[in-house]
Amino acid sequence: MKKPDRPSYVVRPRTAVLTRGYDPTLSVGSARPAVFRSSTYVFSSPEKAERAFLIALGKRQPTPEEDVELIYSRLSHPNAEILEDHLVALEPHAEAAAVFNSGMAAISTVFFTHVRPGQSFVITTPAYGGTHHLIDQLLVPMGLRAIEVPAGDTAAMRAAIASAEDLRLVFVETPANPTLRMSDIAAAVEAARARPEPPLVAVDNTFLGPRFQHPLLHGADLAVYSATKYLAGFSDMLGGVVMGRDPAVIDHLRGTRAILGNILQPDECWMLDGRLPTVELRMSRQGKNAARIVEALKDHPAIARFHYPSLFTDPEQIRIRDAQCTYPGALFAMELRGGKSAAFEVLRRLRIARNAVSLGGVESLACHPATTTHSEMSPEAQEAAGVTQSLVRVSVGVEDWRDLLRDLQEALDAVG
Ligand SMILES: Cc1ncc(COP(=O)(O)O)c(C=O)c1O
Repeated sequence: MKKPDRPSYVVRPRTAVLTRGYDPTLSVGSARPAVFRSSTYVFSSPEKAERAFLIALGKRQPTPEEDVELIYSRLSHPNAEILEDHLVALEPHAEAAAVFNSGMAAISTVFFTHVRPGQSFVITTPAYGGTHHLIDQLLVPMGLRAIEVPAGDTAAMRAAIASAEDLRLVFVETPANPTLRMSDIAAAVEAARARPEPPLVAVDNTFLGPRFQHPLLHGADLAVYSATKYLAGFSDMLGGVVMGRDPAVIDHLRGTRAILGNILQPDECWMLDGRLPTVELRMSRQGKNAARIVEALKDHPAIARFHYPSLFTDPEQIRIRDAQCTYPGALFAMELRGGKSAAFEVLRRLRIARNAVSLGGVESLACHPATTTHSEMSPEAQEAAGVTQSLVRVSVGVEDWRDLLRDLQEALDAVG
């Protein structure tokens, strides 16, 4: 079969996400990728097998034109390769991507690969509850040193990065789950690069990427995603992604992935790959819906405080927002005047938005982080991070915004 012609010019991300890498001649001409469910691959010769292992173990480098044979699906497989190629198109400055079987698998692999017992990492708080759980239950007991800095406190973050001993990783979640406080990616990168041995800077970009924020543009080394959210977009699968500017760093993560066995499986890779061309469309619609709803509800008497980027009042938060985001996104959190009971009552009364954790799907979801996603944090840590009992987090979907507004308005009116 003749290989398809490719354009001789550089195409834009929306085009590249459909055209990069994938070669129909390797899938009996199928216009869209097929699923390769094999666990193991037949070598064309023992020499090719030996060479594939030498390269997989990092003992040899492939030549630019070399066709390295696949080995075994825990290391990599065609659907992971196709997906990783397409993902790279979505993140400016990304040169390589690695896919994992959940966002937590991606995050854990970044920590396990880059920080060893006795070494330190800096993390902004609050972060997703599962990330705190990983740190408190596994990383700190294993002897890794965690240095927490409050999200949005640029001076504290710079000072922590400058003074930490044997610092290997700066992990920034921005905007932070669930308070949407933003941290300055460029400042983290600048402080990291000022050290004699610069640590990697990784950004959990789940909330605003890949549509409204691009960490690598601001100098970060890695953009980390729970692909379960906007990338997959339908609340029907788990996935995780790390994209990076240096292919060697991504290769290192793939090496850990092969040990841990947490690669995304072929069927899920195929599903996620099919969702990528519409992520921009979905996020744009979801973001517009959220902006309209927030605007209409911002003075509702039942709400004491809104957390949404376009309503920031803190000058430092406004500065960070304007420097690194192109749109406020499709998530907001509201603090209700009536505390926990009002928050629960609103969740009970919603008829369109469902009371569920997670976010980023085409359907709207709402949850009470203090008793669910962030319930493992101590009351003091919750208080310090702003994860209050009165806080309800809403992930806006693609429904008609007027119906969603009415749903939220009626629920709020009932507690107002
Ligand atoms: C910001 C953020 N990062 C990471 C994760 C973890 O992703 P997963 O559930 O795919 O493991 C989540 C999940 O809610 C999240 O909100």
